[in-house]
Amino acid sequence: MHSVSGDELTPQQQWLDERRRNVLARFDERIPALYRKPIDLPQAAADWADSIDDAPASLFLTGNIGVGKTHTAWHTARRWLDRQHRDSRPGSPSIQTWRSTQLFDALRPEGDDPRAVTKAAQSCGLLYLDDLAAARVSPSGWTQERLYEIFDERYTSQLPVLITCDVLPAKLADVVGDRVASRLAEMCRGGIHLMRGADRRLAGAA
Ligand SMILES: Nc1ncnc2c1ncn2[C@@H]1O[C@H](COP(=O)(O)OP(=O)(O)OP(=O)(O)O)[C@@H](O)[C@H]1O
Ligand SMILES: [Mg+2]
Repeated sequence: MHSVSGDELTPQQQWLDERRRNVLARFDERIPALYRKPIDLPQAAADWADSIDDAPASLFLTGNIGVGKTHTAWHTARRWLDRQHRDSRPGSPSIQTWRSTQLFDALRPEGDDPRAVTKAAQSCGLLYLDDLAAARVSPSGWTQERLYEIFDERYTSQLPVLITCDVLPAKLADVVGDRVASRLAEMCRGGIHLMRGADRRLAGAA
């Protein structure tokens, strides 16, 4: 009988490894060119991406303008995807990535398929929302209602979110509404990471 030892991979492991590489290659194409350069992740972000829990907490990256939140989030999401695919569990965890302003545009009734956008954002393995506080508050509360539909479903199903935002969750209620802010506080408990430093864009211009 053929035995597997040392570094030799079984056919199933080879197949899983190839699938993981393909998934990561496709994800790399989704990363905007500006953010493709690999970076060292803050320990908290790397630890979060590496943890495989049945009820994973979410990660909230905050900090001043230009400190590197979006760049960090893209590579944290990539690491999360890599880790999920290294664990040979059934299923293919997927990531939805949205700038929050674009998400709200796509959710508008006149958008291409707002129900499908909502469903995908509710059910994907990880929802990465960039610059959450940039979402405009609509006077009718429409934006907050759409966000609530998404967050309530993810909260109930214990699915993680990865958020970048220059406002702390406790101060987000004005933007996202009380009900979303409340859920976010619980989902991100222990997972709020403050990135410190200067605006990297200004540093480059010096
Ligand atoms: N760890 C890093 N090493 C080198 N360059 C970085 C790093 N993080 C971010 N950058 C670069 O710094 C610039 C600003 O980063 P980024 O857009 O992620 O900031 P941000 O915190 O999301 O800003 P904003 O609050 O305006 O959205 C970009 O050019 C980005 O590629
Ligand atoms: Mg940003």
